[in-house]
Formats: sequence, C-alpha cells, structure tokens
Amino acid sequence: MKVSINPITQEVCQIPSVLNDDQNIDNFLNHNRGKKVVVVQGLGFVGAVMSLVCANSLTEEYAVIGVDLAEKESYWKIKSINDGVFPLVADDPKIEEFFNRTKKLGNFLATYDPKAYKHADVVIVDINLDVKKTLKENGALGSFNVELNGFKSAIQTIAFHCKEDVLILVETTVPPGTCEKIVKPIIENELSQRGLSLKYYRLGHSYERVMPGPNYIDSIREYPRVYSGTTLESANAVEMFLKTIIDTSLCDLTRLEHTNATEIAKVLENSYRAMNIAFAVEWSRYAEEASVDLYSIVNAIRVRKTHANLMYPGIGVGGYCLTKDPLLASWSRRNFFQSSSDLDMSINSVSVNDQMPKFAFDRLIQEFGDLGNKRITFLGVSYRGDVGDTRFSPVELLFVLVKNTGAKILLHDPFVTFWEEQNCSIESDLSKVLNSDPDLVIISTGHNVYREEHTIKKLLEIDACKIYDTIGLLDQGQISKLQTKHYISVLGRGDLK
Ligand SMILES: NC(=O)c1ccc[n+]([C@@H]2O[C@H](COP(=O)([O-])OP(=O)(O)OC[C@H]3O[C@@H](n4cnc5c(N)ncnc54)[C@H](O)[C@@H]3O)[C@@H](O)[C@H]2O)c1
Repeated sequence: MKVSINPITQEVCQIPSVLNDDQNIDNFLNHNRGKKVVVVQGLGFVGAVMSLVCANSLTEEYAVIGVDLAEKESYWKIKSINDGVFPLVADDPKIEEFFNRTKKLGNFLATYDPKAYKHADVVIVDINLDVKKTLKENGALGSFNVELNGFKSAIQTIAFHCKEDVLILVETTVPPGTCEKIVKPIIENELSQRGLSLKYYRLGHSYERVMPGPNYIDSIREYPRVYSGTTLESANAVEMFLKTIIDTSLCDLTRLEHTNATEIAKVLENSYRAMNIAFAVEWSRYAEEASVDLYSIVNAIRVRKTHANLMYPGIGVGGYCLTKDPLLASWSRRNFFQSSSDLDMSINSVSVNDQMPKFAFDRLIQEFGDLGNKRITFLGVSYRGDVGDTRFSPVELLFVLVKNTGAKILLHDPFVTFWEEQNCSIESDLSKVLNSDPDLVIISTGHNVYREEHTIKKLLEIDACKIYDTIGLLDQGQISKLQTKHYISVLGRGDLK
C-alpha cells in the first residue's frame, strides 16, 4: 500500500490503488453544469493558488479541476483540497477567503485522474521542470542538466486526452524554445494520431510572477503579465482568458511576438535578480574586509532612481526559481538554439549565490570560534520571509554545517511545522525556543514576526548571548537596543563594536 504524508499536519494518506476518479469528476461536472472547465496541471505553490484565482474569476464562473500525481510527494495535496484544507501555509488572508468561496460554490475539485483533461476548455500547465545540479565541495556549481522527461510526459498526458479546441496555457518556467520545440510537436502528433484536427487547438505561454507571501493572490490577480501564443489566434485566446482572471484595470497585459520571447523574458527576469544578488555578495565581503556597513552604503546609493534596486547582502538565494532559472536559459541557448556559448555571467551568479551559506558559516566560525556543544537557535528555515517553502532554502546548508560542529540546535519557523528536506520537526512557539537559554541565536529567515517589537522585547529578556543576523533583518535602532545586552553580528555590516 502506497502512502503520502501531509508535511503540514503529518496526516498519513493512503494512495488509492485503482486510479479512477470518474465518479467524483462526473458529480463535480454535473454540479457545475454549463460552466467552462479550467484544468490546472500541478497543485504546487503556483498551481494551487492559480486554481483559486481561476475559481474566483473576475468575469466568469469557471469549474476548476486541479490535477496532480498520485505519488507519495504529491497525493496529500489532492486529499487535503478535497477535505477542505488548503495545502499551503502562507500569510495571505485572501487564500482562505478564496478557498472558502470555492467550497461554498463547489467549483474546485482536485484529482489524480488525467481523464479530467478531456473536459477542459482551458488547461494551465503549472508543473515543475527541474535542473539537476552537482555542487563542488566549497558549494560552487559543478555541472548541471535540465530534466525534460517529466515535463514531456505531462504534456503528452494532456495531448492524449484533450479536446481538439482546447486552449493550453503553459505557465511553467521552461528553457526558452520549449513551447515551439517540445510542447507543440507533442500536441500535434497526439491530436493527429487521435484523428483530430490541428486547426482548433490554441497554445500559449504566460509565465508566473507569483510571490508566495502576504500578497500571494494579488501577485497573480493584480500583477502585470507577459504572454504570447504560437499563432495570432492562440495569442488572442490567451489574452481573452487572462482578462477573465487578471484585473486589467490595475495592471497591464503585454503581448510578445513569440513564445520564445516570453520564455526568454521569464528567465532573463530571474537571471537579472540572481546576478544582482551575486553582485551584492561580492561587495558585502569587500565591505566586511574594509570594516564598513554595506547596508548603509546601499541605502545611500539607492536614493538614485537608476540604482534603486541594488540588493543588500544576505545568507544566500533559495527557493525553486532563482536557483535554477539562469541555468535553464544557458541550457536552452546551447541545446535548443545550437549556440556554442553559455550564458557565463548568469551561470556564475548561481554559483556565487550557492556558496553564500558556506561563507555565512565560515564567518560565523571566524567570529564565534568552536560551536561544538553550544546551544544554537535558528530563527527561520524557509527560504523567504513569511512563506512556508523550504525548497533549496539557503538555511539548509548553514544548518547542516552548524550541526556538523556538534552544536545543539533548536529550529523555529512560524510557517513550517516539518522540514521535509531535513526530516525534522520545527518548533512554532517562539518563546519556547528563546527561553531555551541559547548561546547563539541565528536570524536566518526574514519572517516579519522576528522584527516585531515583542520579539525584540523577548530577546532582551533572555540571558546575554550572541545574535548572528545573516539577512540584515534588524534595523539600526533594534541593533542598538539589543547591543545593551547581547553581542550582535550582522552579515555585511562589518564591525559593529
Ligand atoms: N514557487 C514560485 O514562487 C514560482 C514563481 C514563479 C514561477 N514559478 C514556476 O512555476 C512552476 C511551478 O512551480 P511550483 O513552485 O508550483 O512547483 P511545485 O513543485 O510546488 O509544484 C509542481 C506540482 O506539479 C506536480 N506535477 C508534476 N508533474 C505532474 C504531472 N504530470 N501531472 C500533474 N501534476 C504534476 C508536482 O507533483 C507538484 O505538486 C515552475 O516552473 C516554477 O519555476 C514558481
């Protein structure tokens, strides 16, 4: 018997042995008779919330079916949605509001049965497309490769079941060239084999800029979008659909001429950010060597509008996107467009960013000495503030390195109850971890709760210890207050004494 464990509740779900969900799908469609059907492929951080946005469309009453895999990593999401519990923890009240509305209307079903695609007027592809990386001992990037097989088979599944006039909208971040060179041929080949016309299907690309966190829903619904189609008719169909879910009175839709262009736009956007961060890393080391505070330098420069997005230093780059998207771009350049060159600066940015947690660790040892037997509390394991997402979190490498010293570690995160990658539970009671008499507190994630006044007050109540702020969360006033009792060190701020 196969099971899937819900990482939020630890509930153990049995995966059905016969993967036929016809009855539930039929009941759902009967209940939603007359509505257009949107099927979202992939119920992860993007697809689950995109499903809510579609089910709460601005202009249409859609019946939304979310499809994920009946696998141990993902089946729990399907079960959780159908049990009425949204499978994500995030600090956006609109998520609950939107989900409650779908429960009231009965217009959102989750399933593992790919037969759902045969009912779809629109299929939105929100699955993962991974890059496999090997790292060198110092954390630098070794080699990497793009794993296209899972993506290809997902498209194949859609093409095997879909109607001949379906609109397929790819939102997954893909190596540029994918819609034209991979998706289109698979769909056309399959439709032809099924004896269907190739005239009526529509295929487009519109990448996600969703930002998990307090504005999760609005970062889809009220955020500018870039889109394209493989034909003029496809681009028009994508535009019409997007206008039903995106509030175009608040944000623009920008059409680009080709799917290659929108695909490049996505990876360029993220490569730009990854490079900006890598740039800050190099300068933060320099600033520390020169014993100056890079935060105040960056603030002074940021007043120039042309330099307003210069980044601050930090513990590293995490999450699913910035750690891989520059590599997708470089891979596509060589493999889809036969270039003999890589995107060297973009690749290097990933490598520099991947090494940051190791640097944060080395600096820690340099400053605090041997950590063996010390009691160390980490504040935050998520890769980003106010989000329960630990994928490729830079905290992980720092945690592993600190753990290997023999230190006794307590982990806190308000958004993560179980850290899947490290297979351990996470404490959610902040008082408990701070009252554990730590020798060192490492501020590792920018959750807002850590900068709130009550947290600073709590920190002032505990015995004198060392505080290592790896992300520049504390402001100058808070540092001054805490320095009256504790020793404070901030990555990138040079010598604070
Ligand atoms: N997370 C973000 O903040 C974010 C932001 C912008 C863009 N993106 C991009 O959006 C895409 C999805 O990201 P995510 O964070 O939601 O990933 P995720 O890993 O959280 O979710 C992907 C889901 O797709 C499912 N899946 C895989 N193959 C499937 C198949 N054949 N049929 C049905 N389901 C399948 C997986 O089981 C998983 O649940 C990626 O390309 C990512 O780069 C993510």
